[in-house]
Amino acid sequence: MDLIVTDDYDALSRAAAERIADLIVTKPTASLVLATGETPIGAYRELAATLRQRRADVSRLRVFQLDEYLDLEPDDRRSLFGWMARTVLDPLGVPLANVVRLDANAPDLAAACRAYDAAAAAGGFDLAVLGLGPNGHLGFNEPPAPPDAPTRAITLTEASVASNGPYWGGADQVPHRAITAGMSVLLAARQTLLLVSGARKRQILRRVVEEPATPDVPASFLQRAANVTVFADREAWPSPPPARAANPSAGRSA
Ligand code: GLP
Repeated sequence: MDLIVTDDYDALSRAAAERIADLIVTKPTASLVLATGETPIGAYRELAATLRQRRADVSRLRVFQLDEYLDLEPDDRRSLFGWMARTVLDPLGVPLANVVRLDANAPDLAAACRAYDAAAAAGGFDLAVLGLGPNGHLGFNEPPAPPDAPTRAITLTEASVASNGPYWGGADQVPHRAITAGMSVLLAARQTLLLVSGARKRQILRRVVEEPATPDVPASFLQRAANVTVFADREAWPSPPPARAANPSAGRSA
């Protein structure tokens, strides 16, 4: 696990976008799983501009949805697919036919989750772009989540309902159930970027990077995954303290 600390959110967004663009330019048929949430929005904006500049071909990318609320009507404004379309798919120009969705309206959810895992496992993810829940979740892999957790339906913890409340006008607006890409497929990604910004993520990020991996902090299992880079801004990883991270390469500044 590599930790890159940037001066601020804009620098974090630029650095992450550069990484994502490099992969797309090198491998235009790449499979990506892309988080929603606020943190990656800046990186996606930068990425759209960078890809235009570099005249990259996005027509053959494959994009997997990371998580989705359950119990919504298909056109509900709270759908995370809608969020993903607005913040990344449309700005990049990724054809919707190339998107593997988590189908919250499938008549058989368990079968839909198995189909997602099979599609993900077929080629594997070349890149996972993930955010960090304030309770350490990845996607909606709520704690406790073991590293072999499959794609599945879950019930949100109170902490996640509260932390997502501001996005939808209050905690009472947040759906209580969701489906999430499983830990197993996420941890198998060939490259992972974990984007972390802001003081409210400070404590949980230290646990992710420095403490032994535990189901109580699902993101801590990234310590054992291949080719993981944590991009944190100084708000999330203040300097000092000196990092005594799970991996000696952690603690680098950018
Ligand atoms: C949300 C989502 C995650 C997201 C994370 C962080 O609850 N389920 O996919 O990455 O929490 O969100 P944010 O970047 O807005 O802090």
